[in-house]
Amino acid sequence: MPEETPSPRRVLVTGGAGFIGSHTVDQLLAQGDEVLVVDSLATGKIENLDSASAFSSFRFEQLDVARSDAFCRTTEAFRPHAIIHLAALVSVQESIQNPALNFERNVLATQSVIDAAQRCQVENVVFASSAAIYGDNPDLPLKESAEKRPLSPYGGAKLASEALLLAAANTYHFTVTANRYFNVYGPRQDPKSPYSGVMSIFLDRFTQGIAPTVFGDGAQTRDFINVQDVARMNVLAASSTLPGFHAFNVCTGKATSLLDIIDVLREHFPNVPETTFKEARAGDIIHSLGSPESARGKLGFRAQVSLNEGLAHYLQTTTSVTSQLP
Ligand code: UD1
Repeated sequence: MPEETPSPRRVLVTGGAGFIGSHTVDQLLAQGDEVLVVDSLATGKIENLDSASAFSSFRFEQLDVARSDAFCRTTEAFRPHAIIHLAALVSVQESIQNPALNFERNVLATQSVIDAAQRCQVENVVFASSAAIYGDNPDLPLKESAEKRPLSPYGGAKLASEALLLAAANTYHFTVTANRYFNVYGPRQDPKSPYSGVMSIFLDRFTQGIAPTVFGDGAQTRDFINVQDVARMNVLAASSTLPGFHAFNVCTGKATSLLDIIDVLREHFPNVPETTFKEARAGDIIHSLGSPESARGKLGFRAQVSLNEGLAHYLQTTTSVTSQLP
């Protein structure tokens, strides 16, 4: 007899006030789970949890996950069935400028999650990994087994975390899913830094009537996946019963160029001035594309939101927020 999933489940989400985290929290609450968010608010925003805070099954604690003892105490008090570990230093550029901070937030924090999971016998751990671990591997579409060539301390830390989690899964026998996100986009993504996700920057510019800047010729492609799909994969993985460690690409398997995105945005904003082209960024990858086959075969996960639908919804949300501004 397959083991019954207890309902409601208690799920601890680190980094739950962030872009991907808050969407994951919304989906967990909607399906009836009890959720505790642990977030230092270093980059996460409490406003991202506005809809979550309407649920009586939702709790929030401001805490840095890398503070191992405190995090263990919090985990012990909540006794989660699953931990979804999304808290991280998310900027590749910042990881290059401050590798020690990257180590603390992206490696030590993972060890802290492992310690807590082991001590509290958490059955299931989900980890936010990244396509950054593949670096510029040209063997597209990238399968999970592709050679890992991280090109930044950020990519290195994600790979190191996967190794720690693999060893922990083998040692302590819990289920671990490492989700390797490709280019995630959608509402609540912060467009403020020049190194923010390109989609958030383009949307921000188009809605303000400013021409987008393309680094290179715009023919570079990415595997863009909507944050709703990414959150769904996190939720699915949190109740995975696959034993041991599994890593999955979280992607669509479809390549889209920057020029394609600009074409779609121009349909919505025909009066925005012509695109500005600048020299390609040093170290920029031309093409990135993932194979979604493994996640489909083993977890039944398939991205559902098309780029057109995802962009239209993102635009609706962004313009309704912009129109509320004084
Ligand atoms: C993304 C991730 C990064 C990860 C990498 C590897 C983000 C923000 N970055 O980088 O963490 O290491 O995948 O998988 O998710 N661009 C413009 N104009 C702009 C901004 C960007 O032309 O205003 C270009 C960039 O030069 C690049 C492309 O758009 O060619 C995508 O950029 P970006 O969204 O930063 O993502 P990645 O470079 O793929």
